[in-house]
Amino acid sequence: MEYEMDAIAAVDAAWGIGRDNGLLHSIPRDMKFFREMTLGSTVILGRRNLESFPGGKPLARRRNIVLSSSLAPGEGYEVCGSLEALFSLLEKTLKEGGSSRMFVIGGGQVYRQLLPYCRRAYITKMERDFQAEVFFPNLDEDPDWSLAEEGPALEHQGLIYRFVRYENMREKDIFRKGSKG
Ligand SMILES: NC(=O)c1ccc[n+]([C@@H]2O[C@H](COP(=O)([O-])OP(=O)(O)OC[C@H]3O[C@@H](n4cnc5c(N)ncnc54)[C@H](OP(=O)(O)O)[C@@H]3O)[C@@H](O)[C@H]2O)c1
Repeated sequence: MEYEMDAIAAVDAAWGIGRDNGLLHSIPRDMKFFREMTLGSTVILGRRNLESFPGGKPLARRRNIVLSSSLAPGEGYEVCGSLEALFSLLEKTLKEGGSSRMFVIGGGQVYRQLLPYCRRAYITKMERDFQAEVFFPNLDEDPDWSLAEEGPALEHQGLIYRFVRYENMREKDIFRKGSKG
């Protein structure tokens, strides 16, 4: 079954992604990139990430699927209580001819669990250490992942950053759980 699941994140120099259940830094061009990439697709996120959004509201014009064992479904989002439930829902969606374009949008717990099933990771790399509390797995040190594209250095208010794309050399199929490993 064909599906396309990618991760998208902004990381600091230490692969940090968050602190105090918020982002480390906001770069308008990165926000625009995120919006353009994800509009119209399915986004998969953790309960804490949802709570960090303005008003705790899901992202507009995207199908929001929240992983949580404590949250009830709400306006504009569905909830899956486990990875198995998530994979079943995605399988059902694909069988019914729904969108197969999905983005894993964090936070840390969700990236860690779903990265093995992602084909690509779109990473905005910031060249500063913001002393994060939550981290993205360091893909430079992961033999399963390879750097595919590195954009030029960009600058926002003195902060240097670049858009980088990694590819998963050993992507696992969420619909063939028996073949993991
Ligand atoms: N820089 C970036 O690109 C970026 C992107 C996204 C988020 N962030 C940051 O990341 C931080 C949040 O990350 P986080 O790791 O603390 O939390 P998270 O991954 O957003 O959410 C964790 C919660 O998700 C639920 N969950 C996770 N795995 C599950 C599973 N297998 N089954 C059922 N539920 C599951 C649990 O909710 P329950 O407790 O309800 O069961 C868990 O407490 C924030 O600081 C946020 O700003 C940064």
